[in-house]
Amino acid sequence: MITFENVDVIYPNGFKGLDDVNVEIARGEFVAIIGLSGAGKSTLIRAVNGLVPYTGGTLTVGETVVDPKNKSKLRRLRSKVGMIFQQFNNVGRISVLNNVLIGRSAVTPTWRSLIGWYGAEDKEVAFQSLERVGIVDKAYNRASALSGGQQQRVAIARVLAQDPEVILADEPVASLDPPTARKVLGDLRRIQQDLGITCIVNMHHLDLARDYADRIIGMRAGRVVFDGPTEEATDTVIEDVYQRSLTAEDIATADFPVSLEDLPAEAVAGVVAGEPDRKP
Ligand SMILES: Nc1ncnc2c1ncn2[C@@H]1O[C@H](COP(=O)(O)OP(=O)(O)O)[C@@H](O)[C@H]1O
Ligand SMILES: [Mg+2]
Repeated sequence: MITFENVDVIYPNGFKGLDDVNVEIARGEFVAIIGLSGAGKSTLIRAVNGLVPYTGGTLTVGETVVDPKNKSKLRRLRSKVGMIFQQFNNVGRISVLNNVLIGRSAVTPTWRSLIGWYGAEDKEVAFQSLERVGIVDKAYNRASALSGGQQQRVAIARVLAQDPEVILADEPVASLDPPTARKVLGDLRRIQQDLGITCIVNMHHLDLARDYADRIIGMRAGRVVFDGPTEEATDTVIEDVYQRSLTAEDIATADFPVSLEDLPAEAVAGVVAGEPDRKP
């Protein structure tokens, strides 16, 4: 489904973000990427949808060779590859439903999403997506009024609304308290299994990677230094990935809450034109 063949990423400043990465991920797999900060986890994930252009080797998603220079091909690729971020990337001032409809813009003609016009089918899909993450009752709330866990569910619903084959998640639960982190990851896991979606998730905490992933890929300095089934990712193996002993913080989800004030209401360019779906 996703194949990295000798993939390199050299950033414009000359820094090597990925170094000869060879990875093959099958359809429907749930893969956790682990590694210390700066290991190249985000670079690897972003290369898949062309957010970071790879500079050597071949990267294939489904039948498509990722071509970071070909804008229309990238758009088609991204319509099948959803992405979830640590900070949710919801638009706080608009409704949950409209945040989810933004996901439809990946599969809707540009002119329609530009004027904020979505059809009945789009809304149907958006509601189904909200149902899958269990927050359909929040459809008409402002996104900024929701808790952190609910906000990440909005982000998952937005990605589901584009009917993705692949979900990329970059530290999706790092801003959530431990019980919420588990619930959200559990939802993601259940949904990807139900729908047969291929999932690559960067994770900070080993307990989460071990509990939710089929397979773990360990990275260090832009290289893949471990790749195997979750059962094989023992403490010794991970210590080798990290090149140091494990700490309690490596293993268990940290306990800190997120403040809604910290969340950037990152606008999604051009898509959110008005608020067509106010509560009647
Ligand atoms: N745009 C960039 N330009 C130069 N170096 C970058 C850029 N983005 C990331 N890096 C570097 O690439 C390395 C890997 O980064 P990243 O993939 O974000 O690591 P991780 O997600 O594992 O923390 C880091 O050393 C980082 O500083
Ligand atoms: Mg990162």
